[in-house]
Amino acid sequence: MSLVHWIELPKFGDSRGSLIAIEGKRNIPFAIKRVYYIYDTQSGVARGFHAHQNLQQVLVCVSGSCRVVLDNGEVRESVDLDSAHLGLLINDMTWREMYDFSGDCVLLVLASAYYDEADYIRSYEEFLAKVEKG
Ligand code: TYD
Repeated sequence: MSLVHWIELPKFGDSRGSLIAIEGKRNIPFAIKRVYYIYDTQSGVARGFHAHQNLQQVLVCVSGSCRVVLDNGEVRESVDLDSAHLGLLINDMTWREMYDFSGDCVLLVLASAYYDEADYIRSYEEFLAKVEKG
């Protein structure tokens, strides 16, 4: 089973340009409690390197491009994000790493919960141990 779940965000475009609307529990499968965005990431820098115990997220690369690696302890997949109308759904207990940010990359993240450092698993060994335990 693939770890890559895309959410197609409807695009409203006309001669003035494009518009995409995001609505929690409508085109995003959870109520959105938090939004953040990552930008100005220097080339060669990698981010992420953690999993969440109880958090769903949708990543939308609204400008530029980046690459995301997803890993559930058994399968490791790499995916390119370069479309403002595609959201990448990341479920809990999924290790993620982000690479190859273009200079103009703006990575928008929608999250199902408020920021909680206690929800993070920042050690890959700890992540694997937790996944194996079920
Ligand atoms: P971090 O989790 O290291 O970012 P990434 O997963 O992209 O590598 O977060 C960077 C800093 O921002 C860290 O000090 C925690 C803080 N932060 C918040 O305060 N609120 C948030 O919602 C997020 C995602 C991070």
